[in-house]
Amino acid sequence: MAEKNQWENAFTFMMAMIGSAVGLGNIWRFPYIAYSNGGGKFIIPYIVAILCVGIPFIYVEYGAGYRFKASLSKILRNINEKYEVIGWFVLIIPYLILTYYTCIIGWNIIYLFLSFFKGWGPDTDGFFTQSMLHSTTNPMGIFSIVIPIFLSVAFAWVIIWFISHRDLNKGLGKACKILIPLLFFIMAGIVFYSITLPGASAGIHALFTPQWGSDPLGDLLNLNIWLAAFGQIVFSLSLGLCIMLTYSSYLPKGVNLVKNGFIVAITNSAFEIFTAVGMFSIIGYMSLTSHVPIDNVITDGAGLAFIVLPSVFNTMGNAGYIIGPLFFICLFFAAITSALSLVEPLSAALSDKFGMSREKATKYICVVGFLISIIYTSGYGITLLTYFDNFLNQFGLLLTIIIECIIFGWIYKIEDIIETINENSKIKMGKLWKFIIKYFIPIVIGFMWIKGNFDNFVNEGFMKTVIQLILLAVMILVPIILTKLPSKVEDY
Ligand code: PFF
Repeated sequence: MAEKNQWENAFTFMMAMIGSAVGLGNIWRFPYIAYSNGGGKFIIPYIVAILCVGIPFIYVEYGAGYRFKASLSKILRNINEKYEVIGWFVLIIPYLILTYYTCIIGWNIIYLFLSFFKGWGPDTDGFFTQSMLHSTTNPMGIFSIVIPIFLSVAFAWVIIWFISHRDLNKGLGKACKILIPLLFFIMAGIVFYSITLPGASAGIHALFTPQWGSDPLGDLLNLNIWLAAFGQIVFSLSLGLCIMLTYSSYLPKGVNLVKNGFIVAITNSAFEIFTAVGMFSIIGYMSLTSHVPIDNVITDGAGLAFIVLPSVFNTMGNAGYIIGPLFFICLFFAAITSALSLVEPLSAALSDKFGMSREKATKYICVVGFLISIIYTSGYGITLLTYFDNFLNQFGLLLTIIIECIIFGWIYKIEDIIETINENSKIKMGKLWKFIIKYFIPIVIGFMWIKGNFDNFVNEGFMKTVIQLILLAVMILVPIILTKLPSKVEDY
């Protein structure tokens, strides 16, 4: 019998880890990033990014969580009281991401419903931006809440609360064990159907054929392609968000961390490459039927899921009534299991410091999270969501990776972490891994961080800067408050 807050077995842990990694990033981000960064030639930097950043970094969080069995704020406090605030700073980032991730789940629920009767009509662009979001670039739009979105976002929060407030294995564990295999199964059906569509092969060709220019070596050394590959792996594997650290702190003894992390990373990438085949088959089909070049059809994010694909489902006749709902179910399963994982780091940290039960911590997280989410349900919501997403990914996510590498690579004795990772594995992490964590990742990601933030800063409009500064103030103030609040647990 598993203890409270302990995975019942390594399989449940693995499903939860895959559930966290496989999300919107795999379905709507990867196909576009791969295509717009050279198609087939993107594969080389992508594999390097998995091997040199993705897999090595997974082991940092696995090792730390498994060794300390505590949240980051508590681990840091035990190293030195002064560091606790850094822990809360890192922990607040997945939570802020969760507040808008839930809004996307809300849109998805509406589209799932509409897909049964193609309720978006012939003009899918106008429907999404105007009829549904009532989108405006006027900041005053924040005061006009769009009721259907408000309701579906509330519903998304209820689902998240319902699953995550229950015992670990009965809630989160069970949800991932059911939803992840189902997601893979349904997605396989969509992909196999898509590749039979006319025009599919042109789409797949476009995705995988390397777009070499006149100077192939120069092309391959293009910095932007490398940055895109590293960025995709960071996003897709949810690196630096303390999710893996929290999940592995729930592990019982005797689990082979090296094998587990490797399987999670490979499954995540296999899923995104496989899904991209389906997405490009569909795009190839659309390009053929509507005589629009693939270049003009392909887009990423909300545009792909809520504008381009619905218009393809429109052209599919009766098959669209099946493929459409299946696609939005997949998107829902992928997003909800990722959202559940974004609850966990802060929930575990609140329990650690304030002695709250899992039930109570998730209640606070979901209520406050929902209140924050309301801003995205307004007419100005999608603009805010885009600004927050850019800032948190560009500024927050990369910074947390660097912070974790410095803490566990430099401040804490890295040999102890290595010992924990290797404990139950025949394949051992050694000098090379240590070099990657201490030097390679901080330098590469540090460079990306400086470049990205500089570009952002230079190109920013006034409103975007103001909004991001407000967000930054929240990201600094809340951790300070949480640090100052007295702990209710003796050994904290
Ligand atoms: N890895 C998941 C995805 O690809 O969608 C979830 C995720 C959450 C990614 C948060 C990135 C992120 F900032």
